[in-house]
Amino acid sequence: MGWGDMILNVIENKFRLRLPLPPKFRWWLSHKSEIDFWDNYFKNGGLHWKANYELKFDPQLRLQDELASLLPKNRQEVKILDVGAGPLTYVGKVHQNLNISIEAVDPLAVYYDKLLNKYNITPLVRTKSGSAEQLSLLFPANSFDLVFARNCIDHSYNPEKAILEMLTTVKVGCYVLLAHIPNEGENEGYHGLHQWNFNVRNGDFIISSKTGEVNFTKKYSSGCVVACSILTKDNVDWLYTSILKLS
Ligand SMILES: C[S@@+](CC[C@H](N)C(=O)[O-])C[C@H]1O[C@@H](n2cnc3c(N)ncnc32)[C@H](O)[C@@H]1O
Repeated sequence: MGWGDMILNVIENKFRLRLPLPPKFRWWLSHKSEIDFWDNYFKNGGLHWKANYELKFDPQLRLQDELASLLPKNRQEVKILDVGAGPLTYVGKVHQNLNISIEAVDPLAVYYDKLLNKYNITPLVRTKSGSAEQLSLLFPANSFDLVFARNCIDHSYNPEKAILEMLTTVKVGCYVLLAHIPNEGENEGYHGLHQWNFNVRNGDFIISSKTGEVNFTKKYSSGCVVACSILTKDNVDWLYTSILKLS
């Protein structure tokens, strides 16, 4: 845990309150704990996720079906953006019918580069520095055939803006795909970067926090089509949210 997290926890636990801090400031106070997590992850060869750790170094890893199924059918060259990728992208590198190029971004990429150097690791895809909320500063609009984010937009400081930026960078007629564990803010006691909950209610995609909620499906129904499903992987239920960009 970083000093920012630690001081905040001590104050909020001692006085049993939650300070009304802007999410971006709370995010900044907590980001060191994410870097510490990855340091520990490399030190221990992937911690509890050793099998998945090995896969991240496999240049022949097949593109996962849930991503491949959302790619446009009429192209041979496809560009995928992995947002909040961490130091090593999860995205599979090969597909039997497609040439895939992958870009990866993460706001902590500068720190991850230091960790990769420390552990003498060369990634298959080098993660570039950038937060989901600012993707349009990094990439032109309508650049990617698929924009993917796993276990990270609920770590962001403005998830609604982050998803809208993902929609800006994906091409019209293509998909944004989100994969998150439902209810992470609640599950993690709103500590660290976990300020948000992603859920499905009556088929709608809902983003909530300690202070409010947004029905993303209804709010943005004029520009996109949102579909939610639960997929169980490694005994964990994941909420997969696909968002088709209409215009
Ligand atoms: C649990 S890791 C997941 C990494 C990777 N997606 C995976 O599935 O292995 C969460 C990641 O979210 C990133 N993150 C935090 N805030 C973000 C933001 N505003 N935009 C994009 N990514 C963010 C963190 O830096 C961290 O690398």
